[in-house]
Amino acid sequence: MRKYRKTEHIENFLRSTYVGDALFSDIFLYNDSIPEINYDEIDTSVDFLNKRVKFPLMINAMTGGSNLSEEINRNLANVALEFDLPMAVGSQTIALEDEDSRKSFEIVREIIKDGIVISNLSGFSSVEDAKKAIELLRADAIQIHLNPAQELVQTEGERNFCGILKNVEEIVKKSEVPVIVKEVGFGMSPKTVKKLYDIGVRYVDISGYGGTNFFEIENLRDPNSDISDLFSWGIPTALSLIEAKRLNLKDLCIISAGGLKNSMDIVKSIVAGASMAAISGEVLSYIVRGGYEYTLKYVDGIIEKTKMLMMLSGAKNIAELQKVDYKVTGKLKELLEG
Ligand code: FNR
Repeated sequence: MRKYRKTEHIENFLRSTYVGDALFSDIFLYNDSIPEINYDEIDTSVDFLNKRVKFPLMINAMTGGSNLSEEINRNLANVALEFDLPMAVGSQTIALEDEDSRKSFEIVREIIKDGIVISNLSGFSSVEDAKKAIELLRADAIQIHLNPAQELVQTEGERNFCGILKNVEEIVKKSEVPVIVKEVGFGMSPKTVKKLYDIGVRYVDISGYGGTNFFEIENLRDPNSDISDLFSWGIPTALSLIEAKRLNLKDLCIISAGGLKNSMDIVKSIVAGASMAAISGEVLSYIVRGGYEYTLKYVDGIIEKTKMLMMLSGAKNIAELQKVDYKVTGKLKELLEG
């Protein structure tokens, strides 16, 4: 059942057509006509999860557990290796239940070698399972996903979320590696971020609205139940990110995800307060529709254009980019002021 669902998620993601707006176009950056920077000396490297990586982009959690997943994970891991990008695997619940499915996850660590590999489990997982998931990949961190919106519309989904915060707290307290708590495309409110911070979470992936839409993906699984009226639910990524940053929580690492597609989205994410950017859907689309070589060109283009935008923003490294001024316009401004 779970194996089948994994494949269906990928297939339905590829069939999805709904386009939300992460509101990055409402973030405005200034052009610097006197950058006084040598393009060749621009440094895009950052510290992340106790390692130094060359570029502030990670491949976010998607899959594992089926033959199709294995092929996709192999391709994604090779892209990650090529550019030294951290990579998270999809939910490992299936790997804990079914030994045969493990290879599709383990392959990621085999390929990435010493780079950053991140485990993934749900907020309901036990501390023991989290340990097993981490061991399986010798993971540098574990993502714990919170996905009530998605669960509610799955026929087999969870409906009782009582005690989930306490469970996440247990995992955070007992985990030997950093714990990243993430959404899956509906965004995190400042209230959620603060609750997570208060139980000790120091990494949040806000995965907001504007990219992959799990209401639509689940709707495509079950043509008999129409939930298209729910598709517009969620906090646009730019809003979720800026509101999380404005909480001013010491040592909180915010990962910007949800609808990121290009260098402009990454640069705006960092200016608006993210320490790391993450892409799922767009990179999956490139792999499945364009193939491995085409995906390499896509990521290479992202890196080159990010450096151009850094130069034009007057920032020669990521720390300087984080201090660049920006303005918000339109709907994003209204939402932030409302
Ligand atoms: C996901 N995502 C996801 N997240 C997670 O924590 N565990 C998972 O198993 C999955 N599975 C998954 C499958 C597929 C096919 C997609 C496209 C996505 C959610 C993902 O990590 C991310 O949070 C959202 O997709 C938002 O980012 P994008 O896709 O808009 O860049």
